Amino acid sequence: MTAERENEEITIGGCSVIDLAREFGTPSFILDEADFKSRAHQWRDGLEKHFGDHAGIAYYAAKAFISTDVARWIAECGLGLDVCTGGELAVAIAANFPPARMEMHGNNKSEAEIAAAIEYRVGTIVMDSLQEIDRVARIAHTKGVVQKVLLRLTPGIEAHTHEAISTAHKDVKFGFSIASGAAWDAVLATSKHDSLQLQGFHAHIGSQIFVTDAFETSATRLIGMLARYKEEFGTELPELDLGGGYGIAYVDEDDPISPETTLSKLSSIVTQECKKNQISIPSISIEPGRAIVGPAMITLYEVGTTKEVQLDDGSSRWYISVDGGMSDNLRTGLYQAEYSLSLANRESCADLRSARIVGKHCETGDIIIRDVQVPSDIVPGDLLATPATGAYGRSMASNYNHMVRPPVICVHNQTARIMIRRETHADLLALEIDDAPRTLPPSKKGQE
Ligand code: LLP
Repeated sequence: MTAERENEEITIGGCSVIDLAREFGTPSFILDEADFKSRAHQWRDGLEKHFGDHAGIAYYAAKAFISTDVARWIAECGLGLDVCTGGELAVAIAANFPPARMEMHGNNKSEAEIAAAIEYRVGTIVMDSLQEIDRVARIAHTKGVVQKVLLRLTPGIEAHTHEAISTAHKDVKFGFSIASGAAWDAVLATSKHDSLQLQGFHAHIGSQIFVTDAFETSATRLIGMLARYKEEFGTELPELDLGGGYGIAYVDEDDPISPETTLSKLSSIVTQECKKNQISIPSISIEPGRAIVGPAMITLYEVGTTKEVQLDDGSSRWYISVDGGMSDNLRTGLYQAEYSLSLANRESCADLRSARIVGKHCETGDIIIRDVQVPSDIVPGDLLATPATGAYGRSMASNYNHMVRPPVICVHNQTARIMIRRETHADLLALEIDDAPRTLPPSKKGQE
């Protein structure tokens, strides 16, 4: 992030936050293009450095944040793109993203989504259920395509993160469990279809993870499955996709592992385990989302009101209300996520005091930061910035309370431009169309 404090105010990408707020309003997401691209390069270059000839594709996970511009950056930076819905696929198609470098995820892809992915010639479809294996096989067959696929496996790992974003323990909706035998059943089911070409396995153990041991265990178990495949089929599968989930720093205590450390450890474990199991090293892919876009964005808010609330124990809480809230940052409410805060428009020498930063929605849970130390002289009109909101901020934003979703402003080399515009009330009202009541055609059930 190229955010710096200059002449008392914060600048990002060479643009002053005061100017940005005046030009584009608040709340706004501010995306630093250079920072995004440099992180994208770090993951792609790291994969190539540590895996050499065995480097597969560094897929950027679109769910963290996507737009057609971002998809084009990702293509230019030499990464691939992981999409998991027809909507994300539509953005990739609109950006002309090279299909061979794409993979399609999702635990409940619709027939239309599968068909659209196959028609676009998406390189890989990651399959998640037995029904889906049949569906993808049927649709590929109809279109005369042999589709490359991976099987999503759950290696039975309790990742050190919030339960809602932990994905590889047993009781989850994703993939096929290795331990229960479901994974092997899926291999057998896939092998029955001529229209499917099984390339290997995938696992994503969760998100916002800071320790490499969970990734290493996952890789070890996936390699065990590759070994079993070789044993039973006499041939080797060429690919392994180790997923994303690499944590970033939201607050000072967060200690993220660098792409360099992560990939070097993954490379050692993969080499060691493949040797142990006497299989060739497969091509290794990864899927970072948050670690690329998270730190590259801030959210800029304006303070509207402040309020001192007396509590039963004689203490008080200082509430600072900003002009956004849970509609642009759901993570605090959903995962008890923590954020830091900067007074962005000026420097203050005032004593620090504890405050709760809240939004303007009609519920008590509308909290952006539960408890944070801020200068005690914050007043309405001040600008506040929450760093590291690039991942799952705008992408999980909603229109709750008919709030319009904030714009994404792209800053680069002292210039700023609107990448995604602010919604308007007219946008929201435009969804309400003047539809005449209709009599629905009779159901065909029972007539066949
Ligand atoms: N690959 C797969 C299959 C995934 O499901 C995800 C994230 C990723 C890659 C990228 O994970 P990342 O590198 O961004 O951690 N809304 C939550 C995070 C949900 C993650 C869902 N899957 C949050 O705001 O923390």
